[in-house]
Amino acid sequence: MTSHLKKVELHCHLEGAAPPALTLAQARKYNIDLSAYLSDGAYVWHDFASFLECYDKVSEVYKSEEDYALLTETYLEELASIGTIYSELIVSPDHGKRIGLGAEAYIAGVCEGIRRAREAHGIEARLIVTGERHFGPESVIGAAEYAAKAKNPLITGFNLAGEERMGRVADYARAFDIARDAGLGLTIHAGEVCGAFSVEDALNDVRPSRIGHGVRAIENPDLVKRLADQGAVLEVCPGSNIALKVFPDFAAHPLRKLKEAGVRVTISSDDPPFFHTSLKREYELASEAFGFSDSEINDLTRTGIEAAFVDEETRRALLARL
Ligand code: ADE
Ligand code: ZN
Repeated sequence: MTSHLKKVELHCHLEGAAPPALTLAQARKYNIDLSAYLSDGAYVWHDFASFLECYDKVSEVYKSEEDYALLTETYLEELASIGTIYSELIVSPDHGKRIGLGAEAYIAGVCEGIRRAREAHGIEARLIVTGERHFGPESVIGAAEYAAKAKNPLITGFNLAGEERMGRVADYARAFDIARDAGLGLTIHAGEVCGAFSVEDALNDVRPSRIGHGVRAIENPDLVKRLADQGAVLEVCPGSNIALKVFPDFAAHPLRKLKEAGVRVTISSDDPPFFHTSLKREYELASEAFGFSDSEINDLTRTGIEAAFVDEETRRALLARL
């Protein structure tokens, strides 16, 4: 039982958190046929590439500023109901542009959802703007420029997600330079679909304080030591990793090994309904599948707050709540 524990989430894609029932209602509202991607109340995909395709299709039924406010409020409400005090949501203003809503209105809707959830439930949240590798380096630079220029106090980080097998990290380094110069926190998906080399590329070419997943670093002991020595934080999403077959089962998942090697690790849900998980379940897995004690799970949560992309006053307040 982990229901009594305070929780923090650093790695969740906003559209990836869309409840299937809400997505279905949205699809009906806009008369969009999603039956190839959503059936019997579950998202339909079979491998990483088809997951990304399904994710992009689902995202397309959220079209207006109010749709994004509702989606954000709905997810943060769910998090607050299980004792979550802080959430970082990965958002894609570029997606807002692609669907014709525009980056500004997309972000305004998300920020309104955060405002409502904070007012009703006291949950703190920040936004990490992401570029998507499969839309190419130019679009990722566009996302970084947007994040840098927005001067939005809720946008505090920059990420790179999408098809990890497309290009090398160096192709996207310029986008991270723009985000770093703007004072944003840096994190990057690596070591999920690709092996340890992608985590090394990320450390060398981006110098992030956190890595999304990073779990395949376990394939290289020198790299595990480097992560521990540097204090880089891994945003580990065990349920996602098993659903995407990064590891065959929880017994083979390296979360505990990484923690024991001194790597700073946190737990998150990534795209919860796509992977039949939730932050609640990830905390339960920490206890039941990985055998962490309450005190060890609180360590994961504390690491999350220490690595959060927030000002120091907010960090102190979150640590005090824990
Ligand atoms: N976009 C949404 N979820 C993702 C994941 N797990 N990896 C890469 N890109 C993503
Ligand atoms: Zn992710």
